[in-house]
Amino acid sequence: MPQIKAINHVAVVVEDMEKSLAFWRDALGLTLHELRDVPAEKSQVAFLPLAGAEIELVMPTSDDSGIAKYLAKRGQGMHHLCLEVDDIAGMMMQLRSKNIRLINEEPRTAADGKRYAFIHPESTGGVLVELYQV
Ligand code: CO
Repeated sequence: MPQIKAINHVAVVVEDMEKSLAFWRDALGLTLHELRDVPAEKSQVAFLPLAGAEIELVMPTSDDSGIAKYLAKRGQGMHHLCLEVDDIAGMMMQLRSKNIRLINEEPRTAADGKRYAFIHPESTGGVLVELYQV
């Protein structure tokens, strides 16, 4: 059976990356490990590792991106919780069999080769959940 292994990251939507880093990096003292553009999602992401997990900051780089629409509708704040799974395809099959609503029908592959998919908040008690297979 597919197994959840860890919390991989917690993602926060921000409207101003520098302002957010002034809190997460400068005030809290977390280390900024990576700051990069994700053209496919029209966003910029920052990763701040912490005890085997990461805080991910996501900022839209275009008004027509999914993240920009989310920001306009719901404002800044928690965006998703990412759980690491050892078999993403198997987990998605298991969730489907339990009538859990998935946002992605198939796992998607990130630029770094990680496979990911999102579970709809309707089925999770209001939290957008991302599955990650590293
Ligand atoms: Co994520």
